[in-house]
Amino acid sequence: MNKVGIVGVGFMGMVHYLTYQKLSGTQVVAICDSNRDRLAGDWTGIQGNFGPPGQQMDLSDIAVYESSEELIADPNVDLVDITLPPAMHVDVAIQALRAGKHVFCEKPMAMTVGDCDQMLAAAKEFKRQLLIGHVLPFYPEYDWALQEIRSGKHGRLLGGSFKRIISDPAWLTNFWNADAVGGPMLDLHIHDAHFIRLLFGMPTGVTTRGSQRSGLAEHWHSLFEFADSNLHVHATSGVIDQQGRPFLHGFEIQLEKATLVFEFAVMESNTGEQQGRYLCKPTLFDAAGHAQYPSLGDGDPMHAFSAELEHVSQVLQGNMEAGALACELARDAIEICQLQTDNLLSQ
Ligand SMILES: NC(=O)c1ccc[n+]([C@@H]2O[C@H](COP(=O)([O-])OP(=O)(O)OC[C@H]3O[C@@H](n4cnc5c(N)ncnc54)[C@H](O)[C@@H]3O)[C@@H](O)[C@H]2O)c1
Repeated sequence: MNKVGIVGVGFMGMVHYLTYQKLSGTQVVAICDSNRDRLAGDWTGIQGNFGPPGQQMDLSDIAVYESSEELIADPNVDLVDITLPPAMHVDVAIQALRAGKHVFCEKPMAMTVGDCDQMLAAAKEFKRQLLIGHVLPFYPEYDWALQEIRSGKHGRLLGGSFKRIISDPAWLTNFWNADAVGGPMLDLHIHDAHFIRLLFGMPTGVTTRGSQRSGLAEHWHSLFEFADSNLHVHATSGVIDQQGRPFLHGFEIQLEKATLVFEFAVMESNTGEQQGRYLCKPTLFDAAGHAQYPSLGDGDPMHAFSAELEHVSQVLQGNMEAGALACELARDAIEICQLQTDNLLSQ
């Protein structure tokens, strides 16, 4: 049984807490937040863009701490799950690793490649697991693409185009602060940077063109280069000044004998409500020119978190490799985002 302490009970901390309740190999034994209402169980103010609304919780069976230091010192905790704002990841992760705890940390791993490297060095020095919460590969559409590609039955991977666009998230404090969150590059596009790294390896160069805001990339197109010049990879991402379609993501991935496509958006309906729907449902165009439509479940993002945290549990029990949650991949994703930002801002 993995005994988990969650540091930071906001939107993601709540998602993780609720997900752990469904897993048999894990038990949340402690939480930490600087907000005392959260420690008293009042999670009604927690806001996110999926999952159940925050409720009044009964936390009488678990330890509650106002500081991460206290939670890390709790001998009952063996996995520290960090769901703090991104700029706080590096210090808390290193403290936890130094104290002999395993760490599972939300994306983005940290704000800079240098911070990521310090985290990697600490995991190595103190011989503990450091896993990073890149949940995208556990989303059914991305998991399906990975499985089709890895099956080998469609031949070699030739390239792909990836898209992730949001409306300006006015409700997120510090979103446009380079030191605290890092804007859409580190908060949003990091998901695709990581997925691109997972599929194609590390790019050797990137050309990025787009707009900027507050010294950060705002909306952009990137063309990636690889040692294998036959790989053609492109991404569009960022924030648009359009509240009618607050979220969109999708891909078109080319293989020698198949093309995989899907696009999903949250959009305003005729009645003015925001609804999530496929603009193009997951489709595999096969070598014979036929379209195949896989059945991928009900689309609830909470299932992706169940799969992700089950993977964490299996890694800690020694039953699985880190795979998509490997800290080295998450570190490379930060480097890719940095390359894109530098290229855009240098224009
Ligand atoms: N994987 C995903 O799809 C996804 C979605 C949303 C957020 N995230 C990531 O999760 C992390 C947290 O984001 P969020 O949206 O939950 O943020 P949030 O602001 O909702 O929650 C952060 C929590 O940390 C607490 N906190 C802040 N400083 C603290 C301190 N010094 N000590 C203890 N507690 C402190 C705050 O009180 C708050 O409850 C970020 O890295 C974000 O990028 C991932």
